[in-house]
Amino acid sequence: MTQANIGLIGLGTMGSALAQNIAEKGFPLAVTTLHPERVDSFLKDAGPLADNLIGAKSPQEMVDALATPRSLILLVPAGKAVDAIVEIYAPLLSPGDTIIDAGNANFHNTRKRADELAEMGLHFVGMGVSGGEEGARHGPSIMVGGAKESYAPIRPVIEAIAAKFEGDHCADWLGPDGAGHFVKTVHNGIEYADMQLISEVYGLLRDGEDIKPQEIGALFATWNAGGLSSYLMEISAEILQTTDPETNMPMVDIIKDKAGQKGTGRWTVIEALSLGQSASAIEAAVGARGWSADREARATGETLFPATALQAEYDRDDLEAALLAARIIAYAQGFQVLTAASEEYDWGVDMARVAEIWRAGCIIRSALLDDISDAFRSDLPDGRLLFAPAFHGALSKGIEAMRRVIATAVSQGLPVPAFSASLAWFDSMRQARGTTNMVQAQRDFFGAHGFERLDQPGAHHGPWGS
Ligand code: 6PG
Repeated sequence: MTQANIGLIGLGTMGSALAQNIAEKGFPLAVTTLHPERVDSFLKDAGPLADNLIGAKSPQEMVDALATPRSLILLVPAGKAVDAIVEIYAPLLSPGDTIIDAGNANFHNTRKRADELAEMGLHFVGMGVSGGEEGARHGPSIMVGGAKESYAPIRPVIEAIAAKFEGDHCADWLGPDGAGHFVKTVHNGIEYADMQLISEVYGLLRDGEDIKPQEIGALFATWNAGGLSSYLMEISAEILQTTDPETNMPMVDIIKDKAGQKGTGRWTVIEALSLGQSASAIEAAVGARGWSADREARATGETLFPATALQAEYDRDDLEAALLAARIIAYAQGFQVLTAASEEYDWGVDMARVAEIWRAGCIIRSALLDDISDAFRSDLPDGRLLFAPAFHGALSKGIEAMRRVIATAVSQGLPVPAFSASLAWFDSMRQARGTTNMVQAQRDFFGAHGFERLDQPGAHHGPWGS
């Protein structure tokens, strides 16, 4: 084999897995990395898949290995590494070629890079890939954004390597410029919220009821067979039932409670706020990771304000129902941010399709997503996923349960920020008469900002002071 149509740069964990997936599906692929010495060992490890692979040791070799129009997939850390590679490769490519950034990029950068490369006649595609290493190797969920015509040449490859849900590939072109990376960002925001909610339930059982990890894991496994069925629930059950081979202790008990984050959750919150939205459950999850870094201060806090030990006033069914309702809320908030962004940037993202391509392969795949795509294809009251008839029962039951769970957690001094934020949002969304009339009055009082009246059109001022 002398030439391929598609190339891949970056042979780290995700890049290697995706390259093997592409080669396994029978597509010739040229591969390289910024560390060319890694190319030979990658080809050696690829075994028979190497028949479909061309190893390139330099940018020029890579470009020469590709037939035009070339499609070049980058799987390198987001940010500077992408810029560095674009800078090296763009001058070597020809008009009509496409660079595909498959990392977790900030969509603003994707938009900027797409504009810059368009001036050189090159396409830039922002492609969200979810599913971790396992997904990349055997079938991820793929969210593509960029010029629609640049998707056509890579579409057969993308569809072949993507996860399948009942025969439908979990990959699609979702809109121009940054749409794909934005959808992936919101995917991650929802991922953060779901992970945090599950962790909060674990915390309530651990600290409120002194239940051991094995038992919590077994409970989660039971829930995973019901409405909460999902990848994150499945792995949480497994994690809690895993023993550390070195100490024989539950693995989770020796992991430091200090979570990392690379930015996508934070970007979801920032973009939500910029769009006049508030993804409060996601914000709570991002915040909780931030607070988790403050371990020493938290330890001081615990000695100063020890927890009160009250009896739990909710049961296991309440916890399960509350978790399902909170998960619906996290999805509803995520989709609301997506809807707002799609309107703002004129992307025309098909929300039902997004839900469909998240049904398999990605980290937030769950039984709910099938119902969500159906809901988007039917008439939603006020266009809101939160009000979908399909979720009315689960929300009504789950919200009552959530009130008991949160009330107990609060009375025990156990933090449940994502649950609390979810409930506060839900209650705001079901209160026809809110309280921001008071905020408006205050703004008008001190700043003459004006307000609307319920009984008359136009802008008004109150009869305050002089
Ligand atoms: C996925 C994951 C993956 C990764 C994120 C989140 O969809 O496969 O979201 O992209 O786990 O980078 O990472 P952080 O938790 O480090 O922000």
